[in-house]
Parts: sequence; structure tokens; C-alpha cells
Amino acid sequence: MVKVMRVLGIETSCDETGIAVYDQKVGLLANQLYSQVKLHANYGGVVPELASRDHIRKIVPLIQAALKESKLSSADINGVAYTAGPGLVGALLVGATIGRALAFAWKVPAIPVHHMEGHLLAPMLEDHPPGFPFVALLVSGGHTQLISVMGIGKYELLGESIDDAAGEAFDKTAKLLGIDYPGGAILSKIAQQGKADRFIFPRPMTDRPGLDFSFSGLKTFAANTVRANNNEHQTCADIARAFEDAVIDTLAIKCKRALKQTGFRNLVMGGGVSANHALRTKMSVIMKKCNINVFYARPEFCTDNGAMIAYAGMVRFKSDANQELTIVVRPRWSLEDLNPVESI
Ligand SMILES: Nc1ncnc2c1ncn2[C@@H]1O[C@H](COP(=O)(O)OP(=O)(O)OP(=O)(O)O)[C@@H](O)[C@H]1O
Ligand SMILES: [Mg+2]
Repeated sequence: MVKVMRVLGIETSCDETGIAVYDQKVGLLANQLYSQVKLHANYGGVVPELASRDHIRKIVPLIQAALKESKLSSADINGVAYTAGPGLVGALLVGATIGRALAFAWKVPAIPVHHMEGHLLAPMLEDHPPGFPFVALLVSGGHTQLISVMGIGKYELLGESIDDAAGEAFDKTAKLLGIDYPGGAILSKIAQQGKADRFIFPRPMTDRPGLDFSFSGLKTFAANTVRANNNEHQTCADIARAFEDAVIDTLAIKCKRALKQTGFRNLVMGGGVSANHALRTKMSVIMKKCNINVFYARPEFCTDNGAMIAYAGMVRFKSDANQELTIVVRPRWSLEDLNPVESI
């Protein structure tokens, strides 16, 4: 097998087409992203069929743009990594089909990548990457999970949301406040103008032991609070603030528990909600008091992107690359099913 040098990464699991080139020695050489957010905003959520069609429209021009940005030609690429799951089946199939076809044409192996492993490893792309072991808090549009990470592929699920994901709760609460889909980031901006003590939201499932989460009740609490109050800007900001504070407190309480349970000293946050400024700041302050190091990716690598897939593909090249011509995607896929990687 060739010594891996450069991997092209393809991300198409939901509503972002992300393409990147990662060089094992130099690092990231190119990162291209096209977001379908405007397309889906009209419908208040992602429409799977439209997502697939838009990936098909954008993927080849983005690959060409990434190669141009990296100043490489196809002959310089040693492997093609693509998100094989979890995600929307039609959207995944676009990336998997193009990824496999390119790998076949370029006579290099393809590497199927787990989307959440991409989120989990995204902080490795930063200047001060975390060392193993660590607790990972994955907070995205579809997941809220606490994972014990002993190494690459050595994952144990410690807890997860039993209903809505954190990002989903942000987006649904934003919608109640009249903010277009996906409103999480805008809700957070509005929350900056909110008063901390006007409304107090519950901290779900923190009054009992365990590491699972539940966020759907917060959305109902928000709906009732919206209904019982006026819709002035300050009220919306106060509700946004109360909601965000409750989510952050809840996440912090469970992270502390997970760190205590595992005895690990490092916390890694990944997924779109980890771009949240208040979460990053408050978690860092809380964890500093407990002597825990907190790691997260730059905001554009918290939400979906090709860089994290190219990186995960590089890390998994030796163990998972293959030249099979079958196109298999896994819309549902547990991180615990991944193989451990002993050496890169
Ligand atoms: N600053 C922010 N504050 C709160 N939420 C945010 C912020 N930025 C993004 N989000 C939320 O992150 C989510 C998108 O993250 P991501 O792209 O990782 O999710 P996804 O890929 O749709 O889901 P998954 O990774 O679970 O498949 C959305 O719910 C969005 O509202
Ligand atoms: Mg994602």
C-alpha cells in the first residue's frame, strides 16, 4: 500500500457540501464549502431530496476548486475520504458515489469516514491539539453525546440525548422566537442582549444521576414562556438568554460528571453547537477551576466541513482504505462500531 501523503475529503451528509485536501506533513492545503442553508430556509428545515440534488450540482466544481486551491493535480492525491454516515441517505450517496468513482479513476484507495468521528477529531486540526484520553462532548444538529475517547476508534458512549439534539433545540427555540432556520447561531447573538435573571429555565435531567440529556422539554418551556409574554425585542433576547444559559449549564454539569467518572483531564467539544461563543467561554471558565483542559475547533470546523473528513480519512488510511467498488452508506451508525486505529 502507498505511503499516504495527501487525502481529498468529501462531506455531504446533510446540507453542506465540504471538500478539503489534507497533507500528512503540511496539514490542510485546501478547504471549500458550499452551504445549502438558504435553499432549506424556505421550508423551515432540511428537505432531503433537495439536499441530494444540490450536492450533485455543487460537488464537482468544489472538488475542482479544492484541487486548484491546493495547487495539486489529481496525480498528487493518495486517497479519497468520504462521509459514509450517519446522515441523510441520498445526500451521503452523492459523496460516496463521487468519492468511489474518483478513487477508481485515480487508482487510489477510498476511505469511508464516520461523520461524528470527523466532528470529534476536528480540534486536531488546531495548533494545540488534545492528547488522549479525553471526554468528547459532541453537540450538533443531530447528536448530543458524551464519549470516552481512549484513542482513535476507541470510543465508549457515556451518555446521549434521549430526544432532541442540542442544535435541534437551539433551532426549534429560535423558530419560536421568529428566527429563520437554522436559527441557533442567531439566537445566540440575540441572547447577548438578554438579561440573565428575568426567566429561569430548567436544567433537564441534572437532578438525577447519569449522563443522558433531554432537551425537548426546554423547547416546550420556551414555547410557554413566549406565549405568556409580549414579543418585544428585549423579551425575545431575555428568553434566548435563559434558554442558552440552561443548555450550557446542563452540558457543563454532565461534562463534569463524565470527567469525574472517567478520571480524564481533557475535554474536547465538537459539532455545530460547539461554535457557540458563550458555551466555549463558560465551559473554559468552569473547567479551569477543576484543572481540566478544554479543546475545540475554530468555529468553521465545528459545523460540517470537508477538512475534518479529510483529516479523519488520513488517520484511517492504513486501517480502513480499500478499493472496493461497492457503494455503501450507513444513515445510522454508532461511533462504538468503529475499529480502533493503532498507528497512523
Ligand atoms: N453559535 C451557535 N450557537 C448554537 N448553535 C449553533 C451555533 N452555530 C451552529 N449551531 C447549530 O449547530 C447545528 C449544525 O451543526 P452541525 O453542522 O454539526 O450539525 P449536523 O451536521 O446537521 O448534525 P450531525 O453532525 O449531528 O449530523 C445547527 O443546529 C445549528 O443551529
Ligand atoms: Mg455535522
